[in-house]
Amino acid sequence: MATNIVWHEASVSKEDRREKNDHGSFCLWFTGLSGSGKSTLANALAKYLFEANVQTYVLDGDNVRHGLNKDLGFTDEDRKENIRRIGEVSKLFVDGGQIVVTAFISPFREDRQQVRDILNENEFFEIYVNCSLDECEKRDPKGLYKKARNNEIKHFTGIDSPYEAPVNPELVVNTESQSIQESVKTIVQFLEEKGLIK
Ligand code: PPS
Repeated sequence: MATNIVWHEASVSKEDRREKNDHGSFCLWFTGLSGSGKSTLANALAKYLFEANVQTYVLDGDNVRHGLNKDLGFTDEDRKENIRRIGEVSKLFVDGGQIVVTAFISPFREDRQQVRDILNENEFFEIYVNCSLDECEKRDPKGLYKKARNNEIKHFTGIDSPYEAPVNPELVVNTESQSIQESVKTIVQFLEEKGLIK
């Protein structure tokens, strides 16, 4: 960290924003294989919450890699840095009173734990978007699995780069057996039961 930098207190606090929004702010951290449905589900959930007047923002792997993280590739170190930066951005959104929904493969447990650690208790909820590799490969919406199998892409998650499934996530949704709308419902029920939304 640089020296000679001093933390500046904000004039509007996280608590002020939560009170005005009439709901809490936290991070719903989706993790799962490419093609498991993270982005589709994150966007469907955000739409549902938006229509219920809940402040929400989706951070999506492909999109963030077009801008903030366009200097990063898919080596283990780059993925680690990708998740570290998104963790910090998520913290800012939580500070800004939002429910931030993140859709990153985030294949390493240690990196997801690091994000959990920089947020407060009840500000980080890990949601495992569970779908088998076989099914993801069958779906192959972007043709990336095919390329990975043909050695046209290196370090592809599930093929020649590991995915470490969560051990104790707050919630699991199975997009192989459930429709997107059913998975949205599961998440909304979880949020209501926890008293995170009304
Ligand atoms: S990570 O592992 O969390 O840093 O990945 P993420 O930022 O979520 O980016 C995943 C999307 O990038 C595309 N893509 C790849 N994924 C995995 N491995 C390799 N090598 C790769 N190359 C490109 C792919 O479209 C991923 O999007 P999703 O939505 O997960 O399918």
